[in-house]
Amino acid sequence: MAPTPSEGLAPAKGLADVVAASTALSDIDGQVGRLFYRGYDIHDLAGKITFAECVHLLQRGTLPTRGELAGLTGELATGRVPTPLVERNIDAIARVQAPMEALRSYVSLASAEDPDKDSNEPGANLRKAARLTAQQPVLVARYHAARRGVTAPDPDLSLGIAGNFLLQITGRRPAPRAADILDECLVLHADHTMNASTFAARVCAATLSDMHSAICAAIGTLKGPLHGGANEQVMRTFQAIGGVADVDGAVREKLAAGEKIMGFGHRVYKSEDPRASHLRRLSAELAETTGDDTWFRMSQRMEEIVFAEKGLRPNVDFYAASVYRYLGIPVDLFTAVFSVSRMAGWTAHVIEQHADNRLIRPDSEYIGDRDMRWLPISERTRA
Ligand code: ACO
Repeated sequence: MAPTPSEGLAPAKGLADVVAASTALSDIDGQVGRLFYRGYDIHDLAGKITFAECVHLLQRGTLPTRGELAGLTGELATGRVPTPLVERNIDAIARVQAPMEALRSYVSLASAEDPDKDSNEPGANLRKAARLTAQQPVLVARYHAARRGVTAPDPDLSLGIAGNFLLQITGRRPAPRAADILDECLVLHADHTMNASTFAARVCAATLSDMHSAICAAIGTLKGPLHGGANEQVMRTFQAIGGVADVDGAVREKLAAGEKIMGFGHRVYKSEDPRASHLRRLSAELAETTGDDTWFRMSQRMEEIVFAEKGLRPNVDFYAASVYRYLGIPVDLFTAVFSVSRMAGWTAHVIEQHADNRLIRPDSEYIGDRDMRWLPISERTRA
């Protein structure tokens, strides 16, 4: 008998361990918990390079010289102005959409007036990547201001991306250390091999669709609580628990009910997520400097109990939650902050995909009925 079309194919559920693309952007050793951006160990980059340097590394291939960094910084400064169509719709969208939905809408609208919208050529992609990266934090801030009916402060040219973001979100010029901490967070979240949102972006780009379309796919994918949405859920869990004394009971109750604990577990890391080590350190620092150690102590206790009960370690989203909370970022913007950073990686992956493209079109295992007999609608009945 002839084989049925998909017979013999055994799918890896969730494509676990499937190598879906080649990339020179980032690499993970999940066994020992190491992460590299273009060959540089994240432990050597975190706290030492700025997010703008990281953007240059990912999008343009190298850590920048001073001159190159000045050039990119200039592009980011001019590129951050929302296009007129976006500008006209910021308020209306902010009234009806949640943060990640609104960002997806703004990016979609931004494509209409992007001067390079009809080109996937390397130069055009680089320019679009810089504009998208520059605009994302401004769009988050403008969204947040619009939904509260206030005007976000103008960006301050003396502040970097992180400093300006905090200025525009909180309305106050951030302490230099606060800006540096957020900048480090942006570096830590910038790229991470074939994570779900990056894969979504690459699938879209591989049809030779444009960068803005790929980024819309990525934003929609990051939004989910099993991916970028977990950081917000971590803080919501802490808020629902209330205090350190109640962490153990709450975790045990959730596990007994078969619930996942947000911010724990990872498809690739079998040991500590190296980003979590840095975020734990930053959370500890902020707990001390703000004089409010509640969120840090709850995080620490939850880490202990989840490891004891399930052997699971925190992922990048876990300590990011308390760090963002200490920095005064509203909880429902946590995933949007992730997108500000991951824009660097997404756009770099689109550039890489377009530079050596082949359509991404996997197969599927058919598990439905076979040999069904068609009946006219007049003869169909339902038991
Ligand atoms: N809490 C409790 N149990 C968990 C958790 C968790 N956070 N994560 C995994 N498990 C358990 C599962 O219940 C499952 O147990 P079982 O085999 O008894 O059914 C086992 O560990 C394997 O879990 P999967 O969901 O199959 O693992 P997968 O590799 O598909 O998922 C993921 C990885 C999605 C990150 C998962 O660990 C999870 O849902 N974590 C919580 C959400 C989260 O923090 N997401 C952010 C990830 S980092 C990022 O995307 C930026």
